[in-house]
Amino acid sequence: MSDNLKRDAAERAAALVTDGMRLGLGTGSTAAYFVAALGARVRQGLSVVGVPTSEATREQATREGIPLTTLDETPELDLTIDGADELDDDLRLIKGGGGALLREKIVASASRRMIVIADGSKRVSRLGRFPLPIEVVPFGLRATQVAIEKLLETLEMSGELHLRRMADGSPYITDGGHFILDAHLKRIEKPNVLASTLNNIPGVVEHGLFIGLATGAIVATGHGLVELGQ
Ligand code: A5P
Repeated sequence: MSDNLKRDAAERAAALVTDGMRLGLGTGSTAAYFVAALGARVRQGLSVVGVPTSEATREQATREGIPLTTLDETPELDLTIDGADELDDDLRLIKGGGGALLREKIVASASRRMIVIADGSKRVSRLGRFPLPIEVVPFGLRATQVAIEKLLETLEMSGELHLRRMADGSPYITDGGHFILDAHLKRIEKPNVLASTLNNIPGVVEHGLFIGLATGAIVATGHGLVELGQ
């Protein structure tokens, strides 16, 4: 069911792509449906270039025959299509469940528009039920963790930080060679404040709060597609 909804949202997004667009290609299971639908259109003659937000997406896009570029060659993109772990009515997002938040945020920031594709389960009235991924440098991990804990205290937020691990118990390593701390906050009352203050902690590379980046969303529900923004 949820897979069908993800595919519906992804296919609608693929239909919005026009000839000549420079695209950001998201990461995750919903974005993978988009890359597949885009690949089908490319094989029918659509001309686009894409910047993948992860090695996994790079591999899929290559298999699909989508021409790829980099932000060094193409620093400004027209449109990024990506999934999300949560989105609220102001198009604020939590991303990074799949670990690709850093490249995803760089690519989204380089794009004129970012459209989120999701099934209805991702839409929330308040962010925070999904643990917030915080990408950190391995050096000084414990000190960075303490600094984040102190920040949360200052903001009168409570929650545990869990180092993301692989099935074998070793730390999960991002495409950029960093660790991820998942912050189990349950509710984020002031996402904008948390987002800007987290970025002030030196060991924090980036976090999964995407604020002011998504310009639109396509949310697939059992009753059809809901489109927000543009
Ligand atoms: C990847 O790092 C994430 O930001 C994904 O966009 C997010 O986890 C959504 O993934 P799914 O589409 O698989 O739910």
